[in-house]
Amino acid sequence: MNWQHDLNQLAEELIKAGKLSSARWVDAFTQVPRHVFVPRFWLQDKNGWRQVEASSDEGWEAVYSNRGLFTALDDNQLGISSSSMPSLMTRMLEALDIQRGHRVLEIGTGTGYNAALLSTFLGDGDVYSIDIDFVGTAAQRLASIGLQPTLATRDGREGFPEAAPFDRIMATCAVSSIPLTWVEQLTPDGMILADLKTGRCAGNLVLLHRLGPEHAEGRFVSGWADFMQMRTGTTADVPATGQADDHGQPECSTTRITGRPWAHTVPWFLASFRLPAGTGFGMRIREGETWWTITSPDGSRAEVRDIDTGQDRDVLQFGPHRLWDDIETAFDEWEKAGTPDWDRFGFTVEPGAQVVWCLDTDQSWKVESGTS
Ligand SMILES: C[S@@+](CC[C@H](N)C(=O)[O-])C[C@H]1O[C@@H](n2cnc3c(N)ncnc32)[C@H](O)[C@@H]1O
Repeated sequence: MNWQHDLNQLAEELIKAGKLSSARWVDAFTQVPRHVFVPRFWLQDKNGWRQVEASSDEGWEAVYSNRGLFTALDDNQLGISSSSMPSLMTRMLEALDIQRGHRVLEIGTGTGYNAALLSTFLGDGDVYSIDIDFVGTAAQRLASIGLQPTLATRDGREGFPEAAPFDRIMATCAVSSIPLTWVEQLTPDGMILADLKTGRCAGNLVLLHRLGPEHAEGRFVSGWADFMQMRTGTTADVPATGQADDHGQPECSTTRITGRPWAHTVPWFLASFRLPAGTGFGMRIREGETWWTITSPDGSRAEVRDIDTGQDRDVLQFGPHRLWDDIETAFDEWEKAGTPDWDRFGFTVEPGAQVVWCLDTDQSWKVESGTS
């Protein structure tokens, strides 16, 4: 197994796909052996989860391909740490315009792989990385290839005040709002790149520039990213799914929205401002047919039939809240605005208010700041 050869091939693949372009990040990327940081990982198939060693043929192939790999599961078999897709890491590192001499804070050390990329480019003296867990193992793996960035175990919402200010902060877990502490810990020209998710799959990477001690603003980034949600202890910041009961007879209608509604990422994000907090989604088989389900904590549920005949699809709505009506309204508004893509949306962070805005309309949406 020749990691250098396989890593160079992966770099070529990312370059061809336009996910890695700058010489400095190609150089760093091709110096960091990924199997050191992902010696084993979890794969899920119809029989459940199984652990795969990177030293096996199957494991090696996965580690040196552009795949995100789960590296830790909790007691409920939910992924709580992973090595993100290499292309997502390179895309974020390039989007943040990291220059030599910058001090960078990463929120979400995980395996330590991204901290290794940062340390290889910047030198480990300028790299800081924190995680709510896993930091000991990451430190050992980094040290095994001669890197010693400053790592700490703590809740990422706090940032790293004793090491601030930072020129760049990148979060590799998703947040439901941007902690003001991050803005406070930036240098005057500092920038933050984080995955803002107001609900499950509802949001994307946003690149923020510091405009004042407690004021940052910027745009969402083209393309798509979906990090695991930041945890508070063992609780996900945004619940993964709602539980729903059958509330008697459903209200029946049809819809012209195709596919899985959450796969239309922009209008799904806009719908999250209408849907109840904690709305989740899943799948259900009814009389042998697949239906996509959307459920909220009050027991409301919407189901849409998974057929693609080119005709309108059946929708069933149960419970006190008409979830599908909210989704339809958000899709309609998005279409009226000319179907703006992610880069037409921006975000402002100020004390007391975090607001998403659209460049094509005068609409804005307030983000609930929750515990962040
Ligand atoms: C996708 S992984 C990070 C991948 C990592 N950057 C790497 O290169 O392997 C997300 C990480 O966020 C961490 N995390 C979750 N909640 C957190 C919190 N409240 N504070 C800090 N880290 C948190 C998880 O423990 C997990 O390791």
